[in-house]
Amino acid sequence: MNLLITPSFEDIIAGYQNTAEDNDRLFHQLTSLTWSDPILGGHRRHVEDNKLGYGDAAFHAMWLRLLDYARKRFGQISLLEIGVFKGQVISLWALIGRNWDIDVRITAITPFEGRPMPRSRLITWIRSRFDFKFRENLRNGNFYENCDYEAVVKKLFGRFDLDFWKVRLCRGYSTDSHVQLELSNATFHIVYVDGDHSFDGALQDFKTYGPKVVRGGWLVADDAGSFIPGSAFWKGHEAVSRAVNILPEIGFRNVLNVGHNRIFERV
Ligand SMILES: C[S@@+](CC[C@H](N)C(=O)[O-])C[C@H]1O[C@@H](n2cnc3c(N)ncnc32)[C@H](O)[C@@H]1O
Repeated sequence: MNLLITPSFEDIIAGYQNTAEDNDRLFHQLTSLTWSDPILGGHRRHVEDNKLGYGDAAFHAMWLRLLDYARKRFGQISLLEIGVFKGQVISLWALIGRNWDIDVRITAITPFEGRPMPRSRLITWIRSRFDFKFRENLRNGNFYENCDYEAVVKKLFGRFDLDFWKVRLCRGYSTDSHVQLELSNATFHIVYVDGDHSFDGALQDFKTYGPKVVRGGWLVADDAGSFIPGSAFWKGHEAVSRAVNILPEIGFRNVLNVGHNRIFERV
């Protein structure tokens, strides 16, 4: 196993500028790096073939580099994902941890339930006209089919021979008081926010979980690229992209953007 990761996260951020040219070039480069790596590419291929997650292939190569950099900076690393869906990212973290010998501690907040769209198109139409929250959820892709999410995530971990029991699972929504209480003393080296895509929901997550990132650690905001330059990638949701503007005010600086994933370091 070749543990040398090139280019490294440090290499990438050293020359990075938030321009259309850099963002498009980086997105293509990381996409190629995912597909050319048998472990990352095999995992992403399985996710795509079985419709187990969203996002872009480029993110797999991004996560490998960020986790490697975090390991160099902190040693053992604590990671939090808000919004697990079918387990793409937490299983990827576990896979990277095992294959690149990175000691990861994974926490996940997720309801393990759906929020299905109304079956009737008429009801959808009526509610989208008169119910602001419904309209916002519709616009921001905040609906999910009903299914046994926990079983799906366990199966995904099993497929790659990973230990799901090692994940600290907070079952519920990031806004639930029992979840916030459970994590009241927790800190993380990396927090990945990919739960509620409404403006208020994303803002709450940044405000509540941002301060849990240790200095020198990172908050990665998914779906937050509406206002960044570039045309090679889908930019995410406008509401999340606006909410992310709170981060500099609470002590974060934007160090890299990979497609619609925006990476902020706590300073
Ligand atoms: C876009 S999906 C996450 C995709 C996943 N991160 C991936 O990369 O495949 C959003 C998930 O967040 C969950 N969710 C919505 N609001 C949430 C909240 N406030 N706290 C935690 N999870 C939430 C949804 O049920 C859904 O599973």
